[in-house]
Amino acid sequence: MTARAESNRQRGLPDAEVARKVDYLLSRMTLEEKLGQMTMVENNSITPAQVAEFYIGSVLSGGGGNPTPNTPANWRAMVCAFQKAALETRLAIPLLYGVDAVHGHNNVKGAVIFPHNIGLGASRDPDLVERIGQVTARELLATSVHWTFAPSVSVPQDLRWGRTYEGYSEDSQLVAELGAALTRGLGNCRADGSIQVLACAKHYVADGAAQWRESPIAEDAPQQGSTAPPQDSAAPQAVELAPGQWQIDQGDAPIDEASLRTTHLPPYQAAIAAGARTVMASYSSWGGEKLHAHRYLLRDLLKGELGFQGFVVTDWMAINQLDPDYQQCVVQAVQAGIDMVMVPYDFRRFIAALKKAVEGGDVALKRIDDAVRRILRVKLDLGLFEQPFGDKPLLESLGCAAHRQVAREALRKSLVLLKNERQSLPLSRDAPRLLVAGRAADDIGLQCGGWSITWQGEAGATTSGTTILEGLRAAVADTAAIDYSADGQFAAEARAAVGIVALHEEPYAEGFGDRADLSLVPDEIALLRRVRERCDKLIVLLIAGRPRILTEQLPWIDALVAAWLPGSEAHGIADVLFGDYPFTGKLPFSWPRSMDQIPLAALQASAEEPLWEYGYGLTD
Ligand code: BGC
Ligand code: BGC
Repeated sequence: MTARAESNRQRGLPDAEVARKVDYLLSRMTLEEKLGQMTMVENNSITPAQVAEFYIGSVLSGGGGNPTPNTPANWRAMVCAFQKAALETRLAIPLLYGVDAVHGHNNVKGAVIFPHNIGLGASRDPDLVERIGQVTARELLATSVHWTFAPSVSVPQDLRWGRTYEGYSEDSQLVAELGAALTRGLGNCRADGSIQVLACAKHYVADGAAQWRESPIAEDAPQQGSTAPPQDSAAPQAVELAPGQWQIDQGDAPIDEASLRTTHLPPYQAAIAAGARTVMASYSSWGGEKLHAHRYLLRDLLKGELGFQGFVVTDWMAINQLDPDYQQCVVQAVQAGIDMVMVPYDFRRFIAALKKAVEGGDVALKRIDDAVRRILRVKLDLGLFEQPFGDKPLLESLGCAAHRQVAREALRKSLVLLKNERQSLPLSRDAPRLLVAGRAADDIGLQCGGWSITWQGEAGATTSGTTILEGLRAAVADTAAIDYSADGQFAAEARAAVGIVALHEEPYAEGFGDRADLSLVPDEIALLRRVRERCDKLIVLLIAGRPRILTEQLPWIDALVAAWLPGSEAHGIADVLFGDYPFTGKLPFSWPRSMDQIPLAALQASAEEPLWEYGYGLTD
């Protein structure tokens, strides 16, 4: 029995009944009602009254699409207002509200934030990832959100890509295993199966194979000093692009079909088998053809060969890239197999264009009916008709200690010990003094990274949780002194047996994180030197969305821990540094010796070994 049939059975809703209900609704729907179901609008671009007026099927919060003030109760109120409007329409079809809950319900202030996927890849622990899915689902349902654009099942092949950390691993099989685990957790968040959170496997397909300098954004805005990428045109911020930004994200994957199938497709098959009912198309291209208009990959392969019964949603404004003529964009996407369009702003224009396409015969009504049928079926299977407002009592548990424990466990299991000489680790609790340096040692925002409260993430006390320093302070005996200095400029006489330096990447998301060079930068090197002079043993924690190039600095470091992007519960770092728990994490990506070993294909062609192999990780 499929995961979906099984959950319907548990809810006493046999497949045949779902099919009857879908037929019933479809037979009564006007064209306007059908087109509305296929439309997804971002929350600040529509009112509840307009949701009703245009029969809108879905609303989303993009990264940082938060209510003001950003509280769980306000989230719930915001989502419920849209839902209420949808339910007041003639056919009362509930709305699907979607968010990027990619490491917990990460836009919500006070929600627990888990390590980003790269850290979970290091854990190699599907049971843990499934529990993370369950906790995330409960926090989502508390705010009446039923849909997350997760898991990302990208298989990143180039560490310069700013979305590397959103992927679990460079290894397809590990991605498949963990993506399926998260999907299961989202689906099985309630013992009685009465309601689920809908997963969305993204970005279909081979986004992780995009090549350097193939990003369409780079062509439009490659230079330093140019402003935000064009697909973000409605966002007010004018962001300066540093060298390397938007060089790879959304680019072309010039791989052959065999490697598309063996490396990039299996995680979708696994997620679908685990119950993922939505798939998001990728901004990227395959062999020069955009995925959003790729009939072979969407219709023939995904829906045909793989038998995918759910619906395909676009990425944010992605169809606009298909053709200079918007009308053509809409036709091409829907004809290729897109079922729901993340518009996200000008929904009137989208609906009018699709209507014109149907009336002019460019899109057959049969195609529209297929899309709407898929959307309705998913909504029914989910339990959305029975529980459109999620689960209000769960609000009390949002961000609770039990949920935070799971994130703390995840962090412990994500840490990879790369070097440990002179018995530097574990630390002794009785050491009289510790020197701790680096901004990331005492900053929740930095340890959460991108997709945290805001789209790009930012430094500072952005949400609740524990910083690394707070975790260390809680772990040492009262007698031990911890001297902390963000920039490592300690008082002249400060010395200690052990110094801990946290290095970090500034938060980023998507192409803003594309980087030509992953080497440590002069400021980081200076910080290492400063602390090195003041301690006998130097321990380095690397807070980063990917491996960094540090071959030259390695000799100065006694113990090195890859902590990835740890999330909100940094007690987990002290837990392992002090030896209460062992190091168990294994590298989810090979660790290159130099930039010459990036991308992965270059490493595979290299005469030299990587600095550390995929799967490497010391236990003590
Ligand atoms: C990203 C997706 C995300 C969507 C909605 C896009 O820019 O590529 O991963 O789900 O925005 O926020
Ligand atoms: C939104 C993100 C989205 C991005 C796409 C931002 O304004 O907040 O969710 O992914 O635009 O460019």
